[in-house]
Amino acid sequence: MPLWKIKRPILITCPKAITPCLKDEVAALGLPLRSESAAFVETEGTLTDTIALNLSLRTGQHVLFLLKEFQARDGDELYGALRRLPWEDYLPRKGYFSVTSSVDNPTIRDSRFANLRCKDAVADRIRQKTGARPDSGPSRARTVLHLFWKADLCRIYLDTSGEPLSRRGYRKIPWKAPMQETLAAAVVLATGWDGQGAFVNPMCGSGTLAVEAALFALERAPGLLRNNFGFMHLAGFDPAAYQEIRRVARRASHRSLPGRVIASDRDPDAVAAARKNAATAGLEELIEFVVCDFGDTPVPEGGGVVVLNPEYGQRLGDLKRLEAVYAGLGDFFKRSCQGYRGYIFTGNLDLAKRIGLRTRRRIPFFNGSIECRLLEYELYPGSRKNPEDLPPGALPESPQRHSKP
Ligand SMILES: C[S@@+](CC[C@H](N)C(=O)[O-])C[C@H]1O[C@@H](n2cnc3c(N)ncnc32)[C@H](O)[C@@H]1O
Repeated sequence: MPLWKIKRPILITCPKAITPCLKDEVAALGLPLRSESAAFVETEGTLTDTIALNLSLRTGQHVLFLLKEFQARDGDELYGALRRLPWEDYLPRKGYFSVTSSVDNPTIRDSRFANLRCKDAVADRIRQKTGARPDSGPSRARTVLHLFWKADLCRIYLDTSGEPLSRRGYRKIPWKAPMQETLAAAVVLATGWDGQGAFVNPMCGSGTLAVEAALFALERAPGLLRNNFGFMHLAGFDPAAYQEIRRVARRASHRSLPGRVIASDRDPDAVAAARKNAATAGLEELIEFVVCDFGDTPVPEGGGVVVLNPEYGQRLGDLKRLEAVYAGLGDFFKRSCQGYRGYIFTGNLDLAKRIGLRTRRRIPFFNGSIECRLLEYELYPGSRKNPEDLPPGALPESPQRHSKP
């Protein structure tokens, strides 16, 4: 059967702990759930399905199409099994490919050795069948293979994304401590913002949260911002069919926002970077940018969500300064954000205690290896210091508002 018609398991990797969002996204595309873990969701489909996944997913990193599962005890067995696969049918003529891997096998001390055996098997097979040896190297801009090898179990995948999907291509100016795009999208989805009210993002830095929020509200497939994916470098790729899928995705996207997206930062250079990134994403006219302290961010009537990603503090001096900043966040929520849901994304829960409001939910995330939380606060209208004034289920202000943690 031709490669593009075969149905196979498809593994979609994601930053740790965001599988709940990714699962929903995969289900929305009508694809089944086969399995999941903290850092992947497994579905099933054809290579054509991987085009839709690569274009649409907000929270996936790599879309891996399973070619073969087999047993290999060492490098020679790996080479032998891979050499038997019809690589000449998978890679385009005069192709270039690279290999990435995740290896945990007792005979392999350096995963680069496994990658090399894999490269040799593929290139030797193609040379034997066609007379020409394909080029290979580290660039992920063309065909990418991914080898998973744990104990004796091997799986070889086509990485249909190539570069990770978090590289949307709009963040030309990353600014300081930017959030990865897929993580920012997962934070937007986790807030449950429906796109109707306002999405207010003080401390916007390079604007990742605001851009992802606007893309979500426009129902714009983030992959439309990219013009290169791994699947484009596979034999049998049909550019016309791909352009048609892109056209359909573009047509499904709105031109104007139903609600408002407001991004602010006190640093004019951060706002300039965010504005430029938004322009690259085609959103400059749709996001309202303001240079101001977070406490002065305009918060429109009508409700919505307010999301902040303050620094977490690496040095002691920073921590002292940040204690005051975090206390100020609580004041800002109480003073200016009534009727909204407030969210703080932080990797420092001690600092978060300074906010002094009781959290309604604490959603776990990882920013790289740093364990983080998205803290949710329901900011009811009016002053509600007396618990008896609260609507059912609401939480009163914490009494230790200004106490030390
Ligand atoms: C961790 S960064 C945010 C990164 C952002 N999520 C991104 O993806 O680029 C924190 C931002 O808060 C801003 N900031 C710090 N203190 C502030 C304050 N008092 N008012 C407004 N912005 C502030 C900094 O300029 C910085 O851009």
